[in-house]
Amino acid sequence: MNFGTVGTSWITSSFIDASRKSDDFILKAVYSRSEIKAKEFAEKHQAALIYTDLEEMAKSEKIDCVYIASPNSLHYEHALLFLRHKKHVICEKPIFSNTKELKEAFRVAKENGVYLFEAIRNFHSPNFKALKNAIEKIGPVRAANLHRSRYSSKYNEYLSGSRPNVFSAEYSGGALTDLGIYPLYLSVGLFGNPTKISYSANVLESGIDGSGTLTLGYDGFISTIMCSKISTSYIPCEIQGEKGTVVFEDAGVIVDMKLIDNATGQELPVVTYNMEDDMKFEINNFMRIISNKNEEEYLELKELSLLTLSITEEARRQNGIIYGCER
Ligand SMILES: NC(=O)c1ccc[n+]([C@@H]2O[C@H](COP(=O)([O-])OP(=O)(O)OC[C@H]3O[C@@H](n4cnc5c(N)ncnc54)[C@H](OP(=O)(O)O)[C@@H]3O)[C@@H](O)[C@H]2O)c1
Repeated sequence: MNFGTVGTSWITSSFIDASRKSDDFILKAVYSRSEIKAKEFAEKHQAALIYTDLEEMAKSEKIDCVYIASPNSLHYEHALLFLRHKKHVICEKPIFSNTKELKEAFRVAKENGVYLFEAIRNFHSPNFKALKNAIEKIGPVRAANLHRSRYSSKYNEYLSGSRPNVFSAEYSGGALTDLGIYPLYLSVGLFGNPTKISYSANVLESGIDGSGTLTLGYDGFISTIMCSKISTSYIPCEIQGEKGTVVFEDAGVIVDMKLIDNATGQELPVVTYNMEDDMKFEINNFMRIISNKNEEEYLELKELSLLTLSITEEARRQNGIIYGCER
């Protein structure tokens, strides 16, 4: 499958490096607003074509699928452009700013006979399946404490007076949609649609959440999601059941998982995969769904993206966080 990329930061490099593990992946073209950057990036990753005009890239007959890693608020217009030109789109998380955009983009994808995916690495990793299996052994779930909190180097820039995209309402930034989305995907992927949503955010002067705690109510338990871009957490995630507790590091990558049996206090390691180049799992899934036209799996991913985005939308509404595109 011939790929084009949008965005030249480290995440696009990680995507390309992980994708290259698959024989089906061919990097054909890269886009940057700057010709110099595009040339450097193409050289680094051995891409034959460079573009500085997105419309031209979208028209290219040489590309089947585009990976979009531009700032969040631009995902929608970038994705729509490629979908309208019948290119499959893999868009970085958070897929768009709101569900209105997402529903329209899914409609356009369908109309043009192509697929639209949200790149969310933890959900597609085999360790998510291992987590799901482990939870089946702990009896009824009674609490989930999931989080991702990392002090961002971009916060230093913010404190110095600049406005990095991820700290900006104009660019649809914020802790919940940037980092909280990983534990949120775990919660939604494991437990489904919550009956209650409550988000307490620490809203910065730029109008986005620097940190916050989201609680999701489920039948018989609460899933608590903490996220921050202005401080770092060192505590593991855990899902507590009546018979035992599953503990793991890092809601983003899911590693070092163990199950602690309540009756014996014994720690049982859960077999998990090596997460090196973990983006390869999502890429392989997306390419397989496209190749096999697997509508059932696609529908499942679509619903998950919609549900996750509807929760972050409600969380923002509760805290008066309004993105530039919504003003
Ligand atoms: N899956 C993951 O683990 C992961 C990790 C990090 C980020 N992400 C996601 O990837 C996306 C990009 O994140 P990032 O931190 O790389 O963002 P970023 O540095 O703000 O921007 C990404 C790219 O977009 C272009 N760009 C930057 N500012 C722009 C502007 N004002 N207008 C138009 N284009 C602009 C730049 O490419 P050119 O200058 O070459 O045009 C840049 O390389 C986000 O959606 C983020 O959530 C995912």
